[in-house]
Amino acid sequence: MEYRKFNKFDKPVSLFGIGCMRFPMIQTGDGAVVDEEQSIQMIRYGIDHGVNYIDTAYPYHNGESELIVAKALKNGYRDRTYLATKLPVWLVEKYDDMERFLDIQLNKLETDCIDFYLLHALNKSRWDSLMELKVLDFMEKAKANGKIKYICFSFHDNNKTFKEIINAYDWDMCQIQMNIMDMDEQATVEGLKYAGDKNIPVVIMEPLKGGKLANRVPDEIGQIYGQSRIKRTPVEWAFRWLYNFPQVAVILSGVSSMEQLKDNLRIFNDAKANCMDEEELALIEQVRQAYLKGIKIPCTGCEYCLPCPQRVSIPRIFDLVNSAFMYMSEKDSKNNYQRFIVNDGNDASKCVECGQCENVCPQNIPIMQKLKESHIFLTGQGDFPDN
Ligand SMILES: NC(=O)c1ccc[n+]([C@@H]2O[C@H](COP(=O)([O-])OP(=O)(O)OC[C@H]3O[C@@H](n4cnc5c(N)ncnc54)[C@H](OP(=O)(O)O)[C@@H]3O)[C@@H](O)[C@H]2O)c1
Repeated sequence: MEYRKFNKFDKPVSLFGIGCMRFPMIQTGDGAVVDEEQSIQMIRYGIDHGVNYIDTAYPYHNGESELIVAKALKNGYRDRTYLATKLPVWLVEKYDDMERFLDIQLNKLETDCIDFYLLHALNKSRWDSLMELKVLDFMEKAKANGKIKYICFSFHDNNKTFKEIINAYDWDMCQIQMNIMDMDEQATVEGLKYAGDKNIPVVIMEPLKGGKLANRVPDEIGQIYGQSRIKRTPVEWAFRWLYNFPQVAVILSGVSSMEQLKDNLRIFNDAKANCMDEEELALIEQVRQAYLKGIKIPCTGCEYCLPCPQRVSIPRIFDLVNSAFMYMSEKDSKNNYQRFIVNDGNDASKCVECGQCENVCPQNIPIMQKLKESHIFLTGQGDFPDN
């Protein structure tokens, strides 16, 4: 296992961290439930093989993840690992809520101190509301009381907001989404380097884009990887591209089976910064371009079209369509459309064609037409047209 040393942390962190958002599941008559025994075994196996960073959060697995992590960390395992969890900032309405959630989480995790406490999934509006509630005072008080060790945040928004948040405080760490396909979105590679220049270690989430870069890899992509002198799996390439950056402290992986965990432990046995040469970087760029050819709607997720007066989740819907074709994940896109969009009432059928979105879209996407086509495709009523 590779470890990285940062002045802000009292001991080196393992470059590979276990994300506890995608535990193995068992199908029962009442639906899928977490395989608790296997999840506990995996966390302990990881720690026994050098992992010292475990990442969970209040909402993962409907609140069960923190409870399972607590069980896994009994029998001395807690002392052998850093523990990270996150304040569910979207549930915070007043200052006292922050104290209440932290106490609930300490209780659930059966620990006196959470090592890394993150403001979960910050974006511009959440950050502004939290600042009004004096969130940094709360975090500093929690640190002074010994309830948390490091003050951190995780992030899902654009690079401008990322820099604003980074500049607002001397953070102990930040967590961003990054992978070979998300280098220009969210905080971006530029954001990673910006944090690094300020000596803020960065933890990476969704390194395999939630598994899309590992599973059902299209033949064309497989052939590009196959051209390399040294043969590596798509998973190895995706991790390699990330650990190449010295600013990266930990790469979180939401392993869903013991086999995946063992595979990733093997990959992280030799995971050096600055290990990629020009030829390897060019290969990743070739893979990226090949994936990008699958895009059906040129939406960049800038969200200028939001808020939609009908609350239609325009960028998310377009992302589901694009993902279906880029990552051969049509079934997942259709399921997610039902689960998150239709059930929440944010689906494309709610569009009343007011045209407000099209007036502001920097990509000039015919949004109203594309929403209709997306709805037909994602609800299984027809194909998505080629033009
Ligand atoms: N703070 C936040 O806002 C936030 C948001 C997202 C994630 N996170 C954290 O970051 C962690 C990592 O993100 P993620 O779970 O999306 O990670 P990820 O590595 O992008 O995706 C995990 C998935 O990749 C596949 N996989 C992993 N290792 C593999 C291997 N060796 N071979 C083949 N497939 C493999 C599995 O998919 P299949 O099981 O489908 O095969 C697994 O469920 C999360 O678990 C969570 O702790 C935080």
